[in-house]
Amino acid sequence: DKGGYDHYMLKEIHEQPRAYRETLNNRIDHENQRVDLSKEIHLSEDEIRAIEKIHIVACGTAYHAGLVGKYVIENLVRIPVEVDVASEYRYRNPIITPNTLVMVISQSGETADTLAALREAQKLGAKVLAITNVNGSSVARDADEVLLTHAGPEIAVASTKAYTAQLITIYLWGLYLAQIRETQSEEVIRQYIQALSQLPTQVEKLLEFAPTMKQFAERYAHYEDLFFIGRSLDYAVSLEGSLKLKEISYIHSEAYPAGELKHGTLALITNDVPVIALATQEDVYEKMVSNIKEVNAREAYILGITLEGNEEGLSKSVNEVIAIPRTLPLLTPALSVIPLQLLAYYAALARGNDVDKPRNLAKSVTVE
Ligand code: F6R
Repeated sequence: DKGGYDHYMLKEIHEQPRAYRETLNNRIDHENQRVDLSKEIHLSEDEIRAIEKIHIVACGTAYHAGLVGKYVIENLVRIPVEVDVASEYRYRNPIITPNTLVMVISQSGETADTLAALREAQKLGAKVLAITNVNGSSVARDADEVLLTHAGPEIAVASTKAYTAQLITIYLWGLYLAQIRETQSEEVIRQYIQALSQLPTQVEKLLEFAPTMKQFAERYAHYEDLFFIGRSLDYAVSLEGSLKLKEISYIHSEAYPAGELKHGTLALITNDVPVIALATQEDVYEKMVSNIKEVNAREAYILGITLEGNEEGLSKSVNEVIAIPRTLPLLTPALSVIPLQLLAYYAALARGNDVDKPRNLAKSVTVE
């Protein structure tokens, strides 16, 4: 049942405020302003304090959530995090020590490579924490620890609400680690909890951009190549925006760390290659604006995505601007990805593609 929407993907995009609320639900002790995962996580506080490094392993969109996870955990908890694509991790003889925690992320919980990576990690002696959307899935059954994303069933092949629910779960896990390891003050934890609870309403506001994103998408739909650029977390979100666009619109796109463009890729930027530039990270904002000017000088048509309040400044260097509501910097991916999902959806629609069932793809990849 598409609930009145034309496609499951559009329905699932619009279900995100609910998915955020359900994923946060029962995991925050509002009275004490603490994250409480103690009912779900069995690792003792001592075991949590002993973690020396974390490996995050996943495929596709879940891998992109893992890339955000690296920033979140390293910044909040100062534990070194490596992120790997599952089909690589399995075969690279990863260095797992007794104090390595392996995290796998999988919407379906049935992805063959992710499941094999989980088993490989356990064989090498690691405890595995799974973030999955399906209770009772193979990944959920085999993992030592499970945190469920409460996105509800995801039908469209292109993952949307599962990705953002993974982000919310990662934020909760990062804060939980930070509380136990005392790497953040109670005041900072409180700020995160407040900011997290504002996200669903902020997403509702972003969804009102759907008609604007439809217009942009119709303008982009006839191009054959497109670039997404960003720095730090915006780069991680760029990768996800680019995958979403490729898989359903079949427009070739690449995501690039903005500072890396001048090392070769800038040669591809012309007035035939639109650029979507994410500039939501204040600490690298000025650097990002210089990178935007570099592509502007090559006459690329640019859509900038920035924070509310920065639209005016940015509009001098880009053709169009979208502003997302302000939140804490680590939380921006949970907002900035929304316009990119809408862009992919409307671009696919404009090209007459089967949005919910893109060519060559299956919802869950149970072959290696
Ligand atoms: C992209 C997409 C895929 C999946 C990937 C992993 O929109 O849906 O990239 O994210 O196949 O699937 P799960 O999360 O089920 O392991």
